[in-house]
Amino acid sequence: MTELCKVSDLNEGSSLGFLSHKGPVFAVKRDDVIYVYKNECPHLGINLEFQEDQFLDMDGALIQCSTHGALFEIETGNCLSGPCQGDSLTPIEYKIENNAIVVI
Ligand code: FES
Repeated sequence: MTELCKVSDLNEGSSLGFLSHKGPVFAVKRDDVIYVYKNECPHLGINLEFQEDQFLDMDGALIQCSTHGALFEIETGNCLSGPCQGDSLTPIEYKIENNAIVVI
């Protein structure tokens, strides 16, 4: 298991990247729900972000791959547009323990 951060460290509408025992992952909080995905674009299998902790598009509405601009739904990880359309991010199982986000 890997503790990523405290729940309160992840602000509403923002994202944070981490290294876990399952490899690089990132967490997004939207409408008070936390989503954790593997930090790997289904297009080329590379990390999604260009700038540290920046996994969302300008509006914070979708997850965006910085390399070719693929857009993913935050709630499902499904790619809505871009070269991997129809593919999806890999969800990572986590639990909340002592107010921390912990990858299982
Ligand atoms: S590597 Fe992510 S869209 Fe091409």
